[in-house]
Amino acid sequence: MSDQRTVLVTGATGNIGRHIVATLAAAGHPLRAASRHRPTDPAAATSHVPFDWHDPATHQPAVDGVHAVHLMPPPASADPVGQVGAFLDLAQDAGVRRIVLLSSSAIRTGDPGPGQLHATIVDRFPEWTVLRPSWFMQNFVAEHHHHGAGIRRDGEIVTATGDGRVGFIDAADIAAVAVRALTDPVPHNAEHLLTGPQTHSYADVAAMISEAGGRPVRHRTVDVDTMRHRLTSFGIPDGFAALLVGMDGAIAGGAENRTTSTVHDVTGRAPTSLRDFCAAHADHWRRTVA
Ligand SMILES: NC(=O)c1ccc[n+]([C@@H]2O[C@H](COP(=O)([O-])OP(=O)(O)OC[C@H]3O[C@@H](n4cnc5c(N)ncnc54)[C@H](OP(=O)(O)O)[C@@H]3O)[C@@H](O)[C@H]2O)c1
Repeated sequence: MSDQRTVLVTGATGNIGRHIVATLAAAGHPLRAASRHRPTDPAAATSHVPFDWHDPATHQPAVDGVHAVHLMPPPASADPVGQVGAFLDLAQDAGVRRIVLLSSSAIRTGDPGPGQLHATIVDRFPEWTVLRPSWFMQNFVAEHHHHGAGIRRDGEIVTATGDGRVGFIDAADIAAVAVRALTDPVPHNAEHLLTGPQTHSYADVAAMISEAGGRPVRHRTVDVDTMRHRLTSFGIPDGFAALLVGMDGAIAGGAENRTTSTVHDVTGRAPTSLRDFCAAHADHWRRTVA
């Protein structure tokens, strides 16, 4: 039996948050779906609370009466500690007990910037989980992601990862783990390193998308300076672009060439493979790749 106390889901309209909201809403679990825009899904829309990291007036009403928070830090911030820390002050005062932090496989506890948040929630909340997912499969379809946009516009995926391999993961699998971390009666109090079932190079990904969509998509590997400029040209702030490019360099060096069994261990079901994800999104690429 899961815990029926209210869950606040930040990033409620995003890749992970919308699956968390849909799962909790379907189970009749009390929830608040926090984002700037109102979710389009009717079940999520009824639970919506306005929430903007840059508008502190929206924070207190969001956390009042909440037991557990899915915490997605301010997007594209290389140094989120101040903003998130102020929010956590409010959450602690409001009696929030459990935080499930959405972090990244590339960010280790104690790393500068976002890595400082891991210790912050462990130190301040009795119940916590740090989610450290690998790269999302959704990056290849999201309109606003540089990979999704590059595939659509130029038929290419551009990285500074060389032949490095990544355990790409479906956002729905991350959300399934998050739901357990938010609602299991016994808090996980653990870091979950989350990957899909296999690793692939970006060249593998391009080949699979080409096959699924029936249009050629290639991988172009570039040096880190070119990649940084490319990311800023997509509107990513320079500090965050530097962080992302550093992660590409780590991939090139083999840092993400690993898989874990955590999705299966926590949820009892195997994570989606990239091949199945590509098959499920074939229509998207058939329609959109130039
Ligand atoms: N993409 C990856 O491969 C990857 C890998 C590992 C970890 N991560 C991490 O996972 C998280 C999700 O990344 P994503 O790319 O998947 O994002 P995303 O799905 O595009 O989600 C963005 C969410 O944040 C909300 N949002 C945007 N600006 C906001 C603001 N100022 N205040 C409050 N909410 C705001 C958006 O809703 P509104 O616009 O309605 O506010 C939306 O719900 C990020 O923390 C990222 O670092 C991503």
